[in-house]
Amino acid sequence: MKMPQLLAPSFSAALVNGGIVAGLSLMLLGSCSQVPEVAEPSEEPVSAVAAPTVTKEAGTTTPAPEPNATESGAPLVGISMPAIGLERWKRDGEKMKAELEAMGYQVDLLFADNKPEVQYSQVEDQINAGAEVLVITAIDPEVLLGVLQQATDLGIAVVAYDRLPMSTENIDYYLTWDFLAFGRLQGEYLRDTLGLDAPDASFTFESFAGSDDDGNARFYTESALEILGPYLDEGQLVCLSEKCSSEIRYWTDIAVHGWDSEVAQMEMMERLAGFYQTEKIEAILSPNDSVALGIAAALEDAGYQPGVDWPLLTGMDADEENVKLILAGKQSMTTFKDTAILASYAAVMVDQILKGEEVVTNTSFYNYFQDVPTLAVEPAVVTKDKIQEILVDTGFYTAEQLGL
Ligand code: BGC
Repeated sequence: MKMPQLLAPSFSAALVNGGIVAGLSLMLLGSCSQVPEVAEPSEEPVSAVAAPTVTKEAGTTTPAPEPNATESGAPLVGISMPAIGLERWKRDGEKMKAELEAMGYQVDLLFADNKPEVQYSQVEDQINAGAEVLVITAIDPEVLLGVLQQATDLGIAVVAYDRLPMSTENIDYYLTWDFLAFGRLQGEYLRDTLGLDAPDASFTFESFAGSDDDGNARFYTESALEILGPYLDEGQLVCLSEKCSSEIRYWTDIAVHGWDSEVAQMEMMERLAGFYQTEKIEAILSPNDSVALGIAAALEDAGYQPGVDWPLLTGMDADEENVKLILAGKQSMTTFKDTAILASYAAVMVDQILKGEEVVTNTSFYNYFQDVPTLAVEPAVVTKDKIQEILVDTGFYTAEQLGL
């Protein structure tokens, strides 16, 4: 089966016509050199870039807010997020809601407790309530297919947010991170920090993957394996549990269902008890922060100490608890998706759809059914020494929140 690929940027007419102001170009995947009206890229870190402001005319700023959200008759936007319990979805959802309300829309924001059937009926309710655009992060895309069809039949635009349902034509746009970047950044971090290219390099290593029902999870693992696979094959990475294949077809063997911290903790405890009684574990590939939380708890339980024998541990999302783990020396890095920025892009995209304007995209993803017009944004790596610059100076977290 053909793998979805992050295609070479194919800038939309709106972008080529310069319908976008300074800042957006810095966040987009790929080069913007073909876009004359867009401001020059600066050396600013990704997360320091202002949220996008898009209008029909090049170089202008955000349009003045239109009708007040409380006025009846304002179009309704339905937002469906996986779970309020996972910090980033709460942040994404609330940010999107606030921005859309400031633009004058009514917003119904719902969280589905990671239950696909709950999400199905919530989205159906939003359709029945008259939503004109739906922004959905699917828990299990297969389960949603029926309700996506309903949306299309009624002419409701669907924006897939962060997760792209495959094998359906009923998605209008996709807003995402360059999801092939996350695993690569994690893999490169482990390779470079361990020094895997040095002669005689040899480190014990365990790997974990995301949820087996999440279309993103496989790509995260696959892109990490592109970097780390050869070292598993050549023996610089030694996986005593023998669960870490370099071949992507075995990725579900290391999947953590639901990205659940407790599932990850139990699995890590089992591997530590079964294979690391005499040897220490030295490096762990965790696909995201919620999985890293569970792994860190297991390491703690087994008596590992930061600065003494704590292994390298990767993550993704820069969740508050994990940034604190990084400060405490218990997690080595996380890949940061400035969800505030993605949420702002989503609000802008919804606004463009509802106003019938051209929608800004910079690439497309093949989802086995169609090339879905996509706006893809680059992530950044956060290590301890980058927390201030990337997470605090930009206002993503306050110093107090992180105990700095
Ligand atoms: C998202 C991650 C998130 C994970 C668990 C993935 O689809 O891309 O950012 O950590 O889901 O909710």
